[in-house]
Amino acid sequence: MSENCRSAGGSPAILTLENIKKSYFVEGHRIDVLRGVNLEMKEGERLSLTGKSGSGKSTLLNIMATLERPDSGKMLLKGEDPATFSDAKLSAFRNREIGIVFQFHHLLPEFTALENAAIPLMLTHSKKGSFERAENMLERVGLAHRLNHKPAELSGGEQQRVAIARALITSPSLLLMDEPTGNLDNDTGKMIIALILSVAEERNLTTLFVTHNRDFAAEMGRVIEINEGVVLGL
Ligand SMILES: Nc1ncnc2c1ncn2[C@@H]1O[C@H](COP(=O)(O)OP(=O)(O)OP(=O)(O)O)[C@@H](O)[C@H]1O
Ligand SMILES: [Mg+2]
Repeated sequence: MSENCRSAGGSPAILTLENIKKSYFVEGHRIDVLRGVNLEMKEGERLSLTGKSGSGKSTLLNIMATLERPDSGKMLLKGEDPATFSDAKLSAFRNREIGIVFQFHHLLPEFTALENAAIPLMLTHSKKGSFERAENMLERVGLAHRLNHKPAELSGGEQQRVAIARALITSPSLLLMDEPTGNLDNDTGKMIIALILSVAEERNLTTLFVTHNRDFAAEMGRVIEINEGVVLGL
C-alpha cells in the first residue's frame, strides 16, 4: 500500500483497499477507470474525495458500498472480504454496515419521508420500532414537520436530508456520500455538511464524502483525490 494513503493514528482500519482495478467496456472500447487504488480508512475517520468529472469517484464509492465488484484487487471491510459472501449475506451486511447517500438521492417516489427513512430498518425490525426510529432520525435532520410528505413534495435539500436519515438509520459502520450537496445552494449545502459532521462526531462514524467544493472538502479530516485512476493524498 502506498504510504500517502495510509492514515495516521492508532484506530483500527475499518476499510482497506489494495490495488483495486476497474474497467468498463463500451462498444468494444475499454475505459480503465481505476488502475490500482490503495486506501485505508480508520475507524471514526472523515475523508473527502475529490477528482474531476469522470475520474471514477462514483465507481470507487460503489465498490466500497459493495454495489459493484472490482475487476481485481482486495477490499476488506471490518476485517471481512465481501467478495466471499453469498448474495443474501452481502445484502444483509450492506444494509447493516454501510449507509449510502447517492449522487442522485434515490428516494422511492410513492413513499413518504417517514417510510423512506424507515425502509432499511424494516428489513430486520418491526414496523412500529422502525417508524419510531425513522421519526427520531428525521427530527435529527430537522424534518419533524415533513414526515408525511412524498419526495416530490419536498425541496432538494429536504430530500437530501431524508436520504441522510435513511443512510444513518441502521447505525452503519461506514457512511458513504456521493456529492450530497451537489444540487443544493451554498447555504443549504453548509447546513447539510454541519449536520453530517455533528452526527459523524457523535457516533465516531467513518465517513467518506465526495465533493467538488473545496471549502466543504476542507471541513473533513483528510482530503484525497482520484487522478489518472489512482488515489492520492492531498
Ligand atoms: N456502467 C458503466 N458503463 C460504462 N462506463 C461507465 C459506467 N459507469 C461509469 N462509466 C465511465 O467511467 C468513468 C468514471 O465514471 P464515474 O461515474 O465513476 O465518475 P465520477 O468521478 O463520479 O464523475 P462525476 O464527478 O461526473 O460524478 C466515466 O468516464 C464513465 O463514463
Ligand atoms: Mg459521480
